[in-house]
Amino acid sequence: MKFDEPAGTNPIDQLKVVGRPADRIDGPLKTTGTAPYAHDRHDVVQNQAYGYVVGAAIAKGRIASMNLEAARAAPGVLAIVTADSAGRLDQGERNTARLLGGPEIQHYHQAVALVVAETFEQARDAAHRLKIRYAPAKGRFDLEAARDTATIPEKTGSGDPAETAVGDFEGAFRDSPVQLDQTYRTAYESHSMMEPHASVAAWDADGQLTLWTSNQMIAWTAQDMAKTLRIPRDKVRVMSPYIGGGFGGKLFLRADVLLAALGARAAKRPVKVSLTRALMPNNTTHRPATIQRIRIGAQRDGHITAIAHESWSADLPGGGPETAVLQTRALYAGAHRMTALRLAEHDLPEGNAMRAPGEAPGLAALEIAIDEISEKLGIDPVAFRILNDTQVVPDNPAPPDPDKNSDQTAPEARLDAGRPRRFSQRQLVRCLETGAERFGWKRRRSKPGSVRAGHWLVGMGVAAAFRNNLLTKSAARVRLDRRGRVTVETDMTDIGTGSYTILAQTAAEMMGVPLSQVDVRLGDSSFPASCGSGGQWGGNNSTAGVYAACTQLRRLVAARLGFDADASDLAFSDGEVRTASRSAPLMLATRDGPLEAEDAIEYGDLDERFQQSTFGAHFAEVRVDAYTGEVRVQRQLAVCAAGRILNPKTARSQIIGAMTMGVGAALMESLHVDTGVGFFVNHDLAGYEIPVHADIPHQDAIFLDEVDPMSSPMKAKGVAELGICGAAAAVANAVYNATGVRVRHYPLTLDKLVQNGLAIA
Ligand code: MOS
Repeated sequence: MKFDEPAGTNPIDQLKVVGRPADRIDGPLKTTGTAPYAHDRHDVVQNQAYGYVVGAAIAKGRIASMNLEAARAAPGVLAIVTADSAGRLDQGERNTARLLGGPEIQHYHQAVALVVAETFEQARDAAHRLKIRYAPAKGRFDLEAARDTATIPEKTGSGDPAETAVGDFEGAFRDSPVQLDQTYRTAYESHSMMEPHASVAAWDADGQLTLWTSNQMIAWTAQDMAKTLRIPRDKVRVMSPYIGGGFGGKLFLRADVLLAALGARAAKRPVKVSLTRALMPNNTTHRPATIQRIRIGAQRDGHITAIAHESWSADLPGGGPETAVLQTRALYAGAHRMTALRLAEHDLPEGNAMRAPGEAPGLAALEIAIDEISEKLGIDPVAFRILNDTQVVPDNPAPPDPDKNSDQTAPEARLDAGRPRRFSQRQLVRCLETGAERFGWKRRRSKPGSVRAGHWLVGMGVAAAFRNNLLTKSAARVRLDRRGRVTVETDMTDIGTGSYTILAQTAAEMMGVPLSQVDVRLGDSSFPASCGSGGQWGGNNSTAGVYAACTQLRRLVAARLGFDADASDLAFSDGEVRTASRSAPLMLATRDGPLEAEDAIEYGDLDERFQQSTFGAHFAEVRVDAYTGEVRVQRQLAVCAAGRILNPKTARSQIIGAMTMGVGAALMESLHVDTGVGFFVNHDLAGYEIPVHADIPHQDAIFLDEVDPMSSPMKAKGVAELGICGAAAAVANAVYNATGVRVRHYPLTLDKLVQNGLAIA
């Protein structure tokens, strides 16, 4: 199904099942411990052996020698895989560093060996008997030191340009009566999902590889696995039906998957590999740290005239930048503007996507800057944001060129014409106003440090939220059986987000059956390829794919039952197919056998004609202990405008989960770099702290009524990552409001509060 014109009225608009706060249909499996997570899959293939991953003990250099004898002789050992014995390997499209290192080492804890044994304990024991001598080389591990070597990156992952400029920023900034010029820093962060990366691999006699793993993007993984092993794509089957969190850390093929396959080949037995928690931060990917300079010039009446956002990050050679400036291109008005991404090379583990890559750290900085300039102007920060709202894309003020393909057009005009000027929907102002009202913003005192409750200093903060909506092809298959049950199959994943439930709701709505009559099967590369779970695109695109398949199935049903499939009053509801003149039970259609249909949603250029974004507002109230400096988040509220909300319950869970992660970014989360050795020191959950439920007593999420006909037939948009975008800045701004101490370097730990002038008394 091609989606290239705005959606009109369609069966989803009935909202009998879609839009309702249905409980997760996979909930019982999870609460009874029977959902099959990768490491727990003892039953899918017999005779599993265990692999233990050995990570490099240096960050850069070479393996000088490797003595495997003692390990080979250890009890239970079946095979040892190293770069020497693995055979020729290619590299996945989406991997920056090799997943099996040696003799060159590209980063600390890059896998250098897999020891396979009868039991996990035997594999671990033998792994410690490997004698590896390294020849370390000098590496670059310090972002601050690398900053001056940064260059304009060739690729941004998202395909967005690295630099943009409109008008004359420098001139307009210089002439602005009120100016802000500050630099902010965000930390290296680790996804820290509950379920570590884990895989079971089995080869059959025909060279077919089956993988049971934990991965967000089935098709990417199958493709990159085939490429890495240099085998045909159709020889790889990937299954990942349940995933204990991903946050971007499981978007790509990782070492557990590759090494399980190599281990199974070497041991001639199925092999299970889990990454230990301590291996994850350095062996896998992380959110890159950033240095961000923001300059804002404003008129005394509060209007922004000039805004610039520059960001520096670093990655391994061949990697990409953290795209922290993207939201600044679209969020606030201002005639003169520039943004720039700068990328340095360093030799820390590879950076990559983590929950709302780009916008999460970008808004963490921008929204403190907005708080600071509002204060300079003496304008309430909610009012300042409303004053600087824009209904046209501020980064593309030129009118669209009528003939964008004309060769006569100047290059700049062509660029502008190819980019959208208008938002499909933009309700930032309503998010701010609704949130201010519901949060009790008028009780906030603008003078920092002026509210005290006993020994607590109390403060409130606000931040805007912004995240783009991405349209990606997504396919599904649906079947109606003789009993009237509907089965949905797609390789879409559920990473704890509620995919199973919203896909079942979509099929139930389309086919006119109750939710309990739908079975959803996910995460299998033998199913039609979906959009997968990433970049908050999963919900809208995967349900739209099911919508497309159900549209085909409805045609088959109509044909079997003798209805005109194109009749405008044809309806599927309450187990019946009906028009004004006739009705028939749905089940009658499968009297002679089940019906099956497969289709994909494919998009035209609606995302080029309209800027499709989601908007929100975050509010936070914090208390800071006047004697100890301890910061506690008391309340958080997010107001979101993100298209149709397919299930308010699962959407709320996404938002409050993301807000919690925002608190982590604001107050706790940081992978600390040992700039001498070149690794993340705090590589476990004892040293890398993340907030838990008990840390934040009150959290709430409000969804504005919005349907976006430009996004898909579902009229939904991504919502999951909007919850972290701006959440950290709202907390940081609340800490400032409570204490009068401005910290521009995340996380806002006690040492930084004291260094910046927090007087503990
Ligand atoms: Mo998200 S960081 O694309 O899983």
